[in-house]
Amino acid sequence: MLRNLYRYNLANVLRCIPVADAYSFSSQNYGRVYSSSGNIERRQLSTNVTIDTTSETIVLDEGDMKSRFPFIWLRDNCRCHSCYQETAGQKITLLKKLDIDVYPLNVGMHDDQSITVEWSDAHTSKYPLKFLKDVKFPALINPLDGLDLKYWGSEMTRDKIPTFSFHDVMSYESRLYSWLESLHTHGICIMNGLEDHASNLTRLADWVTHPRMTCHGSDFAVKATSEATDLAYTGYPLELHTDLSYYSYGPGVQLLHCIQDSINGGLSEFADGFKVAYDLKRDDPDTFEILSTVPVANVHKGIHSISKTKYILRAWKPIIRMSNSDHVEDVVFAYSHQDTCMSVKFKDAKKVYKALKTFLDSIYSRNNLISLKLQPGEAICLNNTRVLHGRTAFESGYSIQRHLQGLYLDWDEIYSRMRGMSGK
Ligand code: OGA
Ligand code: ZN
Ligand code: ZN
Repeated sequence: MLRNLYRYNLANVLRCIPVADAYSFSSQNYGRVYSSSGNIERRQLSTNVTIDTTSETIVLDEGDMKSRFPFIWLRDNCRCHSCYQETAGQKITLLKKLDIDVYPLNVGMHDDQSITVEWSDAHTSKYPLKFLKDVKFPALINPLDGLDLKYWGSEMTRDKIPTFSFHDVMSYESRLYSWLESLHTHGICIMNGLEDHASNLTRLADWVTHPRMTCHGSDFAVKATSEATDLAYTGYPLELHTDLSYYSYGPGVQLLHCIQDSINGGLSEFADGFKVAYDLKRDDPDTFEILSTVPVANVHKGIHSISKTKYILRAWKPIIRMSNSDHVEDVVFAYSHQDTCMSVKFKDAKKVYKALKTFLDSIYSRNNLISLKLQPGEAICLNNTRVLHGRTAFESGYSIQRHLQGLYLDWDEIYSRMRGMSGK
């Protein structure tokens, strides 16, 4: 966009033009503008700042772009030292002292890069144009809003799963961003090159953000043991599920790094829960109604590793949770963790089980299921609020033991890192 090529780097001339109920100040900028021939031309550009009392906004007119900023918002977002603490990135001002009817007495271009405002509450503020440039009303909530999700079924063969190299993601923020973006859009990625170092997964998580601490620790080894605290730590098959369904706020992302694959069995299986949810909504509304409204309880009991005290984690959640705008927000399903208690009357119990079976049939259907054998050095990365994962049984007890290293991340933390990289 032409606007991006403007440079506010030369002296401006202040000008005052009273117009009806508006006061306008103009700064004439002599910016470098690239002509269609590619040569640099010198052109006179002009930035006008005016007060519009009707809409209670200050208007910034940059020729090709006009932006409006509400009086109250501008006063509230003053970034001077008496209004804002820079190291904490927080307001010092108190809401109780904010005058809702505040208005500007005067505006001006202080220099070629910022506007100054004299306020009715006797304060003077200065706003860099750079600060105002990215402000939008209404604002985008999430850095990836507007990016379409890619739903998938069994056509998502191993070669089509977005694949990233551990080395590249650790070396270049652009690759880190692409990996996280793919995780957001597809819900599944493969990362290779982690070799057989269990600590590499922690290094990766630390490079993204703060990993999620859970009852299984900050990371965990998925290995068959005789003292298993979870079915995952045995050789039994794991039916497709999402992890930690027994937390009200379940982890957003699961990473499973294959350090040693199994000699027999242990095939990984995945299905896109969002696709299945939308398909059911369209094709089987009665089942969808049950799955999206009836809370199901999942439970996990254990002993705290340090205090040695007993804990019982339990959360009630419908299998499919819809947002207010009718989008699938998350899918939570873990039959093996399902608690004995039910949220329906005894006469409706069978209906709920029937809906669960229909859901299971859909995720395992030929159109939806994908299977692959994780290779040592590879990690599977999943949106745990969307993609269900499972494994076939494997034979344990060999001298070489199947070993996956696991770890969770939260979407809040991932988005925070992405905002840090994109500056938004
Ligand atoms: C788990 C899990 C899959 C596997 O640990 O939650 O689902 O392949 N593991 O062992
Ligand atoms: Zn201030
Ligand atoms: Zn799992």
